[in-house]
Amino acid sequence: MENKIIVNADIEQGTINKNIYGHFAEHLGRCIYEGIWVGEDSPIPNTQGIRDDVLEALKQINIPVLRWPGGCFADEYHWKDGVGPREERKRMVNTHWGGVVENNHFGTHEFMLLCELLRAEPYICGNVGSGTVQEMSEWVEYMTFNGESPMANWRKENGREEPWKLTYFGVGNENWGCGGNMRPEYYADLYRQFQTYVRNYGVNKIYKIAGGANVADYKWTEVLMSEAGRYMNGLSLHYYTVPGETWTAKGSATDFTEDEWFTTMKKSLFMDQLVTNHSTIMDKYDPEKRVGLIVDEWGTWFDVEPGTNPGFLYQQNTIRDALVAGITLNIFNNHCDRVQMANIAQTVNVLQAMVLTEGEKLILTPTYHVFDMYKVHQNAALLAVDSNIIDYERNSEKIPSVHVSASKAGNGDVNISLCNLDNTKSSTVTVELQGMSTKVIQNVTATILTSININDHNTFEQPDTVMPTSFNDFTLENNELTIDMPPMSVLVVNVQ
Ligand code: AHR
Repeated sequence: MENKIIVNADIEQGTINKNIYGHFAEHLGRCIYEGIWVGEDSPIPNTQGIRDDVLEALKQINIPVLRWPGGCFADEYHWKDGVGPREERKRMVNTHWGGVVENNHFGTHEFMLLCELLRAEPYICGNVGSGTVQEMSEWVEYMTFNGESPMANWRKENGREEPWKLTYFGVGNENWGCGGNMRPEYYADLYRQFQTYVRNYGVNKIYKIAGGANVADYKWTEVLMSEAGRYMNGLSLHYYTVPGETWTAKGSATDFTEDEWFTTMKKSLFMDQLVTNHSTIMDKYDPEKRVGLIVDEWGTWFDVEPGTNPGFLYQQNTIRDALVAGITLNIFNNHCDRVQMANIAQTVNVLQAMVLTEGEKLILTPTYHVFDMYKVHQNAALLAVDSNIIDYERNSEKIPSVHVSASKAGNGDVNISLCNLDNTKSSTVTVELQGMSTKVIQNVTATILTSININDHNTFEQPDTVMPTSFNDFTLENNELTIDMPPMSVLVVNVQ
């Protein structure tokens, strides 16, 4: 048997919302401070306090939407502490993340500036756990009201005349846990109450996102959809890929076995089942699929790098992370009928980051390269794919060895993203391009991300160990591509 994939270039199955390629940046460890915000007086080159090297790197991957300020931090954040002259801003303790002092120097104005510089849409998460309805309502007024009002006037006093465009607003985070330890029935009622005062001012229309389930907590989705579904535009879901059995032994980011590699692949494939099951519940209450499933936290979560603050969640990023990213983004593409946004955790220096920084130095992670390669799928039309894939077996467990997703871009190009999950075997894959005659195919190119060892990663000393390269190990005969994928590789094939 061989790996056989049929890409139906003439069967479009909906649009892959570009927001599936979204990101998340929390006041956690060195994500915001050091990673993004260095302040205007820093020797690190910056634009109004935001470091230029990070901006340049993130612009390249077309970040469509950025979630902020948390995470768990969101339900302890009081936005009024983060506006006005910086030296007068309140200093607070970031109790969730390392007990460090938060000086509130990065607040609403700084975040909106970051989004403007990145040309990304802001996605702000409000405080339900320890905040008030008034506080949330006034934040939206502060940001979006165009006229005379107490909050709009205060915004102007603080230097911003025009309101900002704000589309995405989350009403709390993980309210089953760090956001208040609530029961779904209680949160559903609070959601209904809080969202009432998240107003649409003028032309600004807010897409309201309710705090969703932890992993496979299907009851949470059931209750939220039945009790509050009609008041929301999106419902979130959080799932992290953790290879270890427990949260106290998650496993090392770089020092792991082939068994852990396999477990990580298996656990990242679990996202498919989760999205399918939550979507099935949502279909019951919302068959038209009006409410989007918003996977606003996902990614790998390993033990922190030895010697670093356990509350800072700083981890390295290997070719294994690249495979997790490739698989998960394929899953989201394939479920684009329901998944309208996803936000990998987290952009800089935290969990499965795009970039890591050390002082003035910056490195791009293997995950960054996957986002760069996959950006061709943003807003493209999902194509129907049929596949027959060889198993990848280990310790009498089986998972598919190859994972795929395909789309057609606005210019007619077909892009096929393929992951070879097997860390030891190369895979020969034939891809039949149906609905596309050979006369139409003018050019086929491919980019690959792969490496030699399962734990290969980029360091500040050797930043280019895992880098994408152009790939030629394929043939095209009639309308069939035969591709020899090396072990542990992520490949994007462009057919023009
Ligand atoms: O991303 C880190 C944390 O994980 C977030 O703050 C929280 O929402 C989740 O538990």
